[in-house]
Amino acid sequence: MTISEDSGNTAPDWLTAAQKHLWLPYTQMKTVAPPLPAAATEGVRIILSDGRELVDGIASWWTACHGYNHPHIRTEVEAQLERLPHVMLGGLVTEPAARLAQRLAALTPGDLDHVFFSESGSVSVEIGMKMAIQYWINQGKRGRRKFVCFRYGYHGDTLGTMSVCDPDEGMHTLFRGALLEQFLVDVPRSGDDLHTLDAFLRTHRDEIAAVMIEPLVQGAGGMKFHPPEVLAGIAALCDKHGHLLILDEIFTGFGRTGTMFACQQAGIVPDIMTLSKALTGGTMALAATIARAHIYDAFLSEDEGAALMHGPTFMGNPLACAAANASLDLFAREPRLQAVERIEGHLRTALAPCREIEGVVDVRTLGAIGVIELAAMRDIAWLKQRFIEQGVWLRPFGDIIYTTPPLTITEAELTRITDAMVATTREWAAR
Ligand SMILES: Cc1ncc(COP(=O)(O)O)c(C=O)c1O
Repeated sequence: MTISEDSGNTAPDWLTAAQKHLWLPYTQMKTVAPPLPAAATEGVRIILSDGRELVDGIASWWTACHGYNHPHIRTEVEAQLERLPHVMLGGLVTEPAARLAQRLAALTPGDLDHVFFSESGSVSVEIGMKMAIQYWINQGKRGRRKFVCFRYGYHGDTLGTMSVCDPDEGMHTLFRGALLEQFLVDVPRSGDDLHTLDAFLRTHRDEIAAVMIEPLVQGAGGMKFHPPEVLAGIAALCDKHGHLLILDEIFTGFGRTGTMFACQQAGIVPDIMTLSKALTGGTMALAATIARAHIYDAFLSEDEGAALMHGPTFMGNPLACAAANASLDLFAREPRLQAVERIEGHLRTALAPCREIEGVVDVRTLGAIGVIELAAMRDIAWLKQRFIEQGVWLRPFGDIIYTTPPLTITEAELTRITDAMVATTREWAAR
């Protein structure tokens, strides 16, 4: 037994034995304290191996929209496991994958009708980027291969997606020089900014494959919000100059911002949309890149070489698709979007007192996202530890303390999270 991350508690043998073999994400393995051993989940709670329970304030990296172990998702996945856990999607198709594609086409706005599956958010973005580049190649335009991306943007950790992340604010500064060069611009904040972007999109017209943004909320770049009018303005400029627009709804999709998809608040339909995270209700690895009819049509040809050249081994995995179909059932039959409205109201009221705390520069909420922005982060390990002591699972990063709870969270559980956020921010300011 060794001492675990929150001192005073012991790690189980299975963790002690495996510790040096398990390489953890975003973690300095030389100095890190052993992570917390999670033994089970229930509702919106993570149960540790020593029996303590943490209310999950971030829904496991923004995925567990129905909480954990939802009986409907479990039943559907178990039934699929009995029938057919996996076959390749190349040359074979399974009912869960076919049904999910049809349902996503119906659920997403406009003629976003063509669904290409993969197994992670980053890969779905890579596929969206390839789709955009090849869309132009198939029309004889080989020069259009750069992406316009936005400061504070985050689209994944693979080499291609790193190139469209904010190089300074993101986690990828180290790789500068090793990545494809893209066009990085600021999210427009004013009419003047939109004019600047307008001119930029005109000037570089023949080099641009697509404009890419996380709609309404740039998540991993610091939970930065922009209003629907800005998104609509960007979409209008793409239309004006004949640029493709890729919306990365991997974080914002499935109700997180108050509507099923964030782009619906701006009344726009992107050319390509990426989804993952809450797609399976947070239970399994699955992602989708969804294209509008004119994108799909550009790949139709007598020439085999004009086809989309991509095919992840586990794309459309039937277990993951069964989970996603079950998750969509829950969105249809349970009041998730009303829950987001309730959560938003709670977060707005409960976090407001943080505005008065020294060192807090902003408090903002949108849908089921609540953010306390600090002038400068310090004592981050202490903050995480204090949250654990109060029975909540929150992971501050950058300059923010934030919550993105499961949409099934009760008022009492949400109060536990927001009370901990307010009290701990006060303690932090007084240190
Ligand atoms: C907006 C956005 N795009 C892409 C990704 C990458 O997804 P994944 O971690 O599944 O590769 C993330 C992950 O946080 C994300 O928030």
